[in-house]
Amino acid sequence: MTHESDQRGGAALALENVQFTYPGIGAPALSAINVSVAAGQTLALVGPSGAGKTTLAHLLMRFWDPEEGVVRLGGHDLKSWRLDDLRQHIALVAQDTYLFNDTIRANILIARPEASAADVAAAVRRAALDDFTAALPDGLETRVGERGARLSGGQRQRIAIARAFLKDAPVLILDEATSHLDALNEQAVRRALDELMAARTTIVIAHRLSTVRDADHIVVMDAGRVVEAGDHDALLARGGLYAGLVARQLAGAVPAARVE
Ligand SMILES: Nc1ncnc2c1ncn2[C@@H]1O[C@H](COP(=O)(O)OP(=O)(O)OP(=O)(O)O)[C@@H](O)[C@H]1O
Ligand SMILES: [Mg+2]
Repeated sequence: MTHESDQRGGAALALENVQFTYPGIGAPALSAINVSVAAGQTLALVGPSGAGKTTLAHLLMRFWDPEEGVVRLGGHDLKSWRLDDLRQHIALVAQDTYLFNDTIRANILIARPEASAADVAAAVRRAALDDFTAALPDGLETRVGERGARLSGGQRQRIAIARAFLKDAPVLILDEATSHLDALNEQAVRRALDELMAARTTIVIAHRLSTVRDADHIVVMDAGRVVEAGDHDALLARGGLYAGLVARQLAGAVPAARVE
């Protein structure tokens, strides 16, 4: 079935009583998940490593289906969406960006193969990649190497951001990689992300306090469950897991000594 949603204002997302278990793994990765985001709003998802944040994002893309409960986009069960329509509606900036052994341009064009050179240039600029590419002798025609090995983690994530700008989908899922926090803290990238999130329904799996604090709603996950939800002030006042994560600036939720 083909469903429409407002391209500019985003579309509502909801997970209703969702349970999901990875094949061959005993315990569910997600249990009794009830989470919703209104069209155009931003939901921040926080919680310790292994809490199930990325798994939840992957259910929204239908990389997996829940064994119980329903996931909805624009009010419709994801299973009633045509898969290509669904994936047109959602841009995912993943924790680890998969790059093909091709040029920077080709890697960005994957988001919308028919895009013009001007559209690609605009996406590169908005993702704060233009200074980097302008300094390369071959510019956008530079090859990225096997799985993007010739680029830093932050540069790879900015390619993912450029893809999301090019795609211009009403829903954005941003899975921040803690290992690239330094890159994400660059002002230019932060501005790029803020622009990307504006006027879209956004789920941001966030490790930066600034992103989380600004979200319309915060959901705290632990061991596959939602343990707290609310806004920053209310969650701080509870003195629970969120307050503890904030005390460690959220990124501290991953093992203290950051590798990489
Ligand atoms: N493909 C998979 N197959 C089996 N188990 C998986 C798979 N991916 C994740 N898991 C398990 O599911 C649980 C949730 O993982 P998930 O990646 O969703 O956590 P996360 O909250 O995103 O953590 P992080 O902050 O480290 O990215 C973990 O116990 C993890 O080991
Ligand atoms: Mg994750």
